[in-house]
Amino acid sequence: MMYVMSDLRVELATFPTTVEPAPRLATAIGLGPDDLWIKRDDLTGLGGGGNKIRKLEWTVGAALAEGADTLVTTGAPQSNHARLTAAAGARLGLAVVLVLRGSPGVSRSGNLALDGLFGARIAWAGEVDQAGLDRAAAEVCEKLRGTGAKPALIPFGGSSALGARGYAHCGEELRGQLPDLRTAVVALGSGGTMAGLVASLGVEAVLGVDVGALPEPAAAVCEFAGLATPEGLRIRHDQVGAGYASLTAPTAEALTLAARTAGLVLDPTYTGRAMAGLIAAVRDGDIGPGERTVFVHTGGLPGLFGHGEGVAYAEGQVVEYRA
Ligand SMILES: Cc1ncc(COP(=O)(O)O)c(C=O)c1O
Repeated sequence: MMYVMSDLRVELATFPTTVEPAPRLATAIGLGPDDLWIKRDDLTGLGGGGNKIRKLEWTVGAALAEGADTLVTTGAPQSNHARLTAAAGARLGLAVVLVLRGSPGVSRSGNLALDGLFGARIAWAGEVDQAGLDRAAAEVCEKLRGTGAKPALIPFGGSSALGARGYAHCGEELRGQLPDLRTAVVALGSGGTMAGLVASLGVEAVLGVDVGALPEPAAAVCEFAGLATPEGLRIRHDQVGAGYASLTAPTAEALTLAARTAGLVLDPTYTGRAMAGLIAAVRDGDIGPGERTVFVHTGGLPGLFGHGEGVAYAEGQVVEYRA
């Protein structure tokens, strides 16, 4: 094994990620110029980067320790987690099968095109719910075993108590980088990212913005962070809009604002919603001027190009120069 493993972790990413100030974005949303910092977890290195690599270091490390030769995971067609599982498999010389919701007819741009470049095979599960997706993944694992392969199932979104350890580590990086941090704002999908941050920073220091990936995201955060109750968790549910796959108006505005005041690219599903949640939190007083706030940029850029409405919105932002 050329990649170093310590405990169960296999090194895949570039750490620590940097934090950088965003003074123009801060003042545009009603904070002081020195209040808002960006944790660049979009720059974690492997496969286009993003939050999922921190979790994969642990879940893929465990798979290697079990002797797996094939990684199997589940997700939406534009899953960033699936794309980074494909990249991790390519780097480590493991086969990858991605069990994705939907059918071969969906757009193959964005994350799906990268899955193809990384050499992952796709198993389409049809329009199924979470239980159906899990069943389809179990069947794929069974069939792989029948051919003599040794599959390891990586959990949906990479989220488990083990995967969350990657984000507990991110929280420790943040404490060292911004000792007076009051709130870390992060997108909340399958829950592992927020859970890890909560485990290391405390419930009061993390604001999760629900993207609508799970019906009960607070329960997932509790499970992965080892909390007995959701009491004290700060979660906003006001940015889901018409659902996970939709582009909401506040998210669209957040995409343009972050791009034009910080040169920061957000995506329509996760980081755009998280930024819209931060803007709403400042508006309603949950976050105020004078408080050190960090926006955890969790990546997801390929998802912008795989999101029909998102691409159409971005194309509509093109401004003609007229002399
Ligand atoms: C870009 C991006 N940000 C944030 C998240 C949310 O992380 P989690 O699923 O750990 O809640 C995801 C999950 O898919 C993601 O792809």
